[in-house]
Amino acid sequence: MTKVPVQITLNGKERSVFVEAGQNLLDTLRRSLGDLTPKYGCGQGTCGCCSVVIDGQIRLSCLTLAESVDGSVIETVAGIGDGAQLHALQTAFITHFAAQCGFCTTGMLMSAKNLLDNNPSPTREDVVEAISGNICRCTGYEAIINAILDVAAQGGSGRQLS
Ligand code: FES
Ligand code: FES
Repeated sequence: MTKVPVQITLNGKERSVFVEAGQNLLDTLRRSLGDLTPKYGCGQGTCGCCSVVIDGQIRLSCLTLAESVDGSVIETVAGIGDGAQLHALQTAFITHFAAQCGFCTTGMLMSAKNLLDNNPSPTREDVVEAISGNICRCTGYEAIINAILDVAAQGGSGRQLS
């Protein structure tokens, strides 16, 4: 099968990869580039677990063709914090008990970060809208919304690794 070269900036680092025609970005990130933070939930664009930021826009990586992001800047949770140094949103999710099984959490964090990067003082309605594409079966959303509003009240989206 023909492979297509794709170059991206992933969490601040230049990455080159060959992808099969029709391969989605989620598979490329997880299988080819070793970034396991975007999750495979539905694979059909309904759960938001695979959300990443592409050129400043929140996108579903399961529905994004890998070859279409050639030249793009992509952010995932792997670029905003890690076990040693957490992003303010990650800390707030812990403090507010906003993650239970955690399967939705990385996509939720990317939607939240993208919101705060573009709107540092969101209303509750802004937060609800920003995470409306991220489905959570566990938390009932209130803890997540409060965590995001808490970070906004503290003055912004916090640190970033890259
Ligand atoms: S895995 Fe992409 S929206 Fe569910
Ligand atoms: S914490 Fe389980 S799906 Fe959100």
